[in-house]
Amino acid sequence: MRIYQASETNPALIKKQKIAIIGYGNQGAAHAENLRDSSAEVIIGARENSQKAEAARAKKFTVLSAVGAARAADIVMIMTPDETHQAVYQEISAELTPQKILGFCHGLAVHFGYIQPPPDLDVMLVSPKVPGYVLRENYQSGKGSLILAGIWQNPSGRAMDMALSYATAISGGDAGILESTFGDECITNLFGEQAVLCGGIPEVIKAAYDTLVEAGYPEELAYSECVNQSKLLVDLIVKGGIKFMREKISNTAEYGGLVSGPRVINDGVRAEMKEILTEIRSGAFAQTWMDENKNGLKNLQQLRQAESRHGTEKTGQQMRSLMQGSAEERKAS
Ligand SMILES: NC(=O)c1ccc[n+]([C@@H]2O[C@H](COP(=O)([O-])OP(=O)(O)OC[C@H]3O[C@@H](n4cnc5c(N)ncnc54)[C@H](OP(=O)(O)O)[C@@H]3O)[C@@H](O)[C@H]2O)c1
Repeated sequence: MRIYQASETNPALIKKQKIAIIGYGNQGAAHAENLRDSSAEVIIGARENSQKAEAARAKKFTVLSAVGAARAADIVMIMTPDETHQAVYQEISAELTPQKILGFCHGLAVHFGYIQPPPDLDVMLVSPKVPGYVLRENYQSGKGSLILAGIWQNPSGRAMDMALSYATAISGGDAGILESTFGDECITNLFGEQAVLCGGIPEVIKAAYDTLVEAGYPEELAYSECVNQSKLLVDLIVKGGIKFMREKISNTAEYGGLVSGPRVINDGVRAEMKEILTEIRSGAFAQTWMDENKNGLKNLQQLRQAESRHGTEKTGQQMRSLMQGSAEERKAS
């Protein structure tokens, strides 16, 4: 995999472009502010009655309709939620003339064919591997963020250079730019979310908490062991890797983890992960998600409600107010 440093990109390219950010949400707001602070010209495209348009105006951005912004810009970034990309694209497509560049920060809609750009349009991907607020914080501190950059099609021959220039402008540091593709970014991102970050980890936490509570141990203790300490361990893994984390814990914890970990994530779980990856790669998951949106998100609402009733929610609230209280007491004393 090719990894670029900021010094290998041409920061001047993006400064000559007018960039329309369609959707001033988590990512859109951070991209817009970082790009502007890197001397690019940015306008915001918003839908009628947009809730976020006011926030963009408060930051002194010009806010137009999505069509108006796409018409006025050289680069058009679709930064609305993935499930809206097809509709937003259809709305603005007449403005996407061949000399412009269409951009995304997640490849789902293009990779799975919900959007089929005409062959004479440049299409690029610039996808930070951090949430929007961290992208902004890392820019302001000069630390920079890891970014994926790639192209879907490059008829003009300048799309990859522009993606790299854009990536440097939003990163604001030298954390590295990984050259990728719409397909690889999309599949690995969905899989990481489902198997680990937003699926596997919360489910392991809930199952472990339930196991202790059902065996009669206090909820507060279960929460402290299974929820609170997870951050400390993950921080160690991110900082130095799994071996580094194991060096920082007790021998008892290390031995117990190495022996019991594979029993928790056993062959059945690994087989299920492969099945999940197959469903993601085939487009079955993407289609289910699009159908869920058409169906008014009924299933999602039910899943949200069911999870909000889990014991970790109530105990977590108590534990957080307890810890908040003790932090305030320490500050006061
Ligand atoms: N969240 C992340 O950390 C993250 C990380 C990497 C990549 N991404 C990708 O970044 C993209 C944006 O995700 P996000 O989480 O930043 O989204 P988000 O915060 O949910 O963005 C919502 C924004 O999109 C606008 N919007 C929603 N539907 C619209 C429509 N039909 N037409 C016009 N504007 C519309 C909203 O307008 P209103 O003001 O009217 O609400 C709001 O400004 C996605 O492709 C996502 O996969 C996100």
